[in-house]
Amino acid sequence: MEYSNIILTIENGVATIRLNRPKAFNALCTALNEDMESALNSLRQNPAVRVVIITGGDKVFAAGADIKEMLTANPMEAMETSRFGHQINDMIENLPFPVIAAICGPALGGGCELALACDFRVMGESAKLGLPEVGLGILPGAGGTQRLMRLTGASKAKEVIMLGKNIKAAEALSLGLATEVVPDEQVQDKALQLAAKLMEKPAVALMLAKQAVNSGEAYGSAAGKYFEKLMFGLSFSSHDQLEGMTAFLEKRSPNYTNQ
Ligand code: CAA
Repeated sequence: MEYSNIILTIENGVATIRLNRPKAFNALCTALNEDMESALNSLRQNPAVRVVIITGGDKVFAAGADIKEMLTANPMEAMETSRFGHQINDMIENLPFPVIAAICGPALGGGCELALACDFRVMGESAKLGLPEVGLGILPGAGGTQRLMRLTGASKAKEVIMLGKNIKAAEALSLGLATEVVPDEQVQDKALQLAAKLMEKPAVALMLAKQAVNSGEAYGSAAGKYFEKLMFGLSFSSHDQLEGMTAFLEKRSPNYTNQ
């Protein structure tokens, strides 16, 4: 399907969503979020897809929600903007396969929140994460206060959110926010290499592991442990559990079928 504000391609099991509003630094307007909603729904239902990469290209990831669009919003309209942003990021977080953000240049505001909803972040040397909303008289509204706080701790999150301090690539790596930092021109290749590594793993185990980690984040540790037990049991319904364990005992490489 053709979209106006994103470009969706699928090749060898890897779906790539490229944000495509270059004149507005990929600002996440409602029309772009509608494209994202439709694309994410289609990917979720596509059995050929094993990994998703979200990128803004080689200059900018995304400069946040569209400030021009929000300028005269009333409180109810602003709440709807926030709700929609949350919905998109929750959809990403809940996809049953890994999602990689491939980031060059700024990932600010809603762009940072989008990156934080992904499972992995490959960052170029020019990449920076930031939540500058307080400087606009508002606050992050698409999950940033919660996701950043969980990933870095409240103290660092408050520096970023309340003081408007950006996190450059090297610091993101030391904080565990970046999976890898590479020169900008290698970001897309690195993301594809990470996708290839993930595709070597059995898909069912990957899906269940992602859900178990996310459930702890979403519902707290006790519920997370409960989900982990359920997911662990469920993993024994997959073909690849028997294959993975048999291959280990027979000292050979496993032949996963992703069933
Ligand atoms: N919304 C709308 N348009 C934006 C935008 C945004 N978030 N960010 C950039 N643009 C537009 C600019 O208005 C400009 O358009 P014109 O050419 O028509 O004037 C164009 O993109 C280029 O921007 P700059 O001239 O500012 O380019 P720069 O290289 O000097 O700076 C930047 C780039 C650092 C990304 C800077 O544009 C910037 O700081 N952008 C805003 C970042 C921001 O505050 N994001 C938070 C948004 S609120 C939010 O996201 C709320 C939420 O959580 C839901």
